[in-house]
Amino acid sequence: MNPSLTDPFGRNIEYVRLSVTDRCDLRCFYCMPEGFKDFEEPDHWLTFDEIERVIRVFSELGVRRVRLTGGEPLVRKNILDLAHSLSALPGVDDLSLSTNATRMDKYATELYQSGIKRINASLDSLNPDTFKQITKGKLDKVINGLMAAKAAGFNPIKINMVVMKGINDHEVEDMVEFCIEHDFTLRFIETMPMGDTGRNASDQFISLQTIEQRLGQRYELIPGMMPGGGPARYVQVAGSELRIGFITPISQHFCETCNRVRLSVDGTLYMCLGQDDKYELRPHLRAGITDDELRQHIINAISTKPSHHEFNEKPGQVVRFMSMTGG
Ligand code: 5AD
Ligand code: SF4
Repeated sequence: MNPSLTDPFGRNIEYVRLSVTDRCDLRCFYCMPEGFKDFEEPDHWLTFDEIERVIRVFSELGVRRVRLTGGEPLVRKNILDLAHSLSALPGVDDLSLSTNATRMDKYATELYQSGIKRINASLDSLNPDTFKQITKGKLDKVINGLMAAKAAGFNPIKINMVVMKGINDHEVEDMVEFCIEHDFTLRFIETMPMGDTGRNASDQFISLQTIEQRLGQRYELIPGMMPGGGPARYVQVAGSELRIGFITPISQHFCETCNRVRLSVDGTLYMCLGQDDKYELRPHLRAGITDDELRQHIINAISTKPSHHEFNEKPGQVVRFMSMTGG
């Protein structure tokens, strides 16, 4: 029998989201405050050897899927080396990347060769001014990055759009057309109250059910499927290849099927995006534990995984910024 990691609620944990840096070259207002400096000390960052070891032990416990996240993963030095070594682990059969795509034009080909085969990219607006207002960055760099990723062969490329009332919600149709044109998958995400920034952005919260109804007036939406086991619920746009996913942590939570934990750059395991439950692995790793002991720490950590987030009941609860755990 294959090994498996099961939490107290019977959920099989087979997916690790690995934050390789908490830094980012953008400043999306719902994620990180402008001028934010309170980054993790480089001494606290897990080294690539430490990361590889933790992921190897996870994979021996049944984790098959790993996603590199940030901050922005491509700002971590020599990230390609890490991608190579993680994709070489025998248990890991799905290595993916979440990126803001600002550096993708530089990295796309080598990343693809390193064993990462699919990416998610954040793109909240197709209007350069609105993009700048949301991220402080330049839209054309991101569009160039996405085209480079497509040319390099990544498939699927999923576009993640955080939909915000009065900021970019009028652009959802444009984003649909853009994704049809370029053969991208599109996912809409509800704004989550993560850290003070996310909480301030809660004023812009709009339920995706409203968006889906609006799109339904313009397109014929039929129930769709997308392999990958994530929390999105998909529809397909009739007459096109486009699949649209709705990620609705606030209006309809999907915690019953949660299959993941998050490892931050400093070696802390976060059990839930919407809770503070955590388990620090770094002190143990640096105290020279054996693989067996590491395995036991991971099992202990999973035994504390909460049943669900409380974004609605306690929106003030999660103080860390999204950039620490990468969504
Ligand atoms: N609410 C929803 N999504 C967020 N992201 C970052 N902060 C928030 C938030 N407060 C998303 C980004 C990106 C991923 C890293 O997380 O848009 O797609
Ligand atoms: Fe950077 Fe992503 Fe946070 Fe935007 S949402 S600041 S791109 S980590």
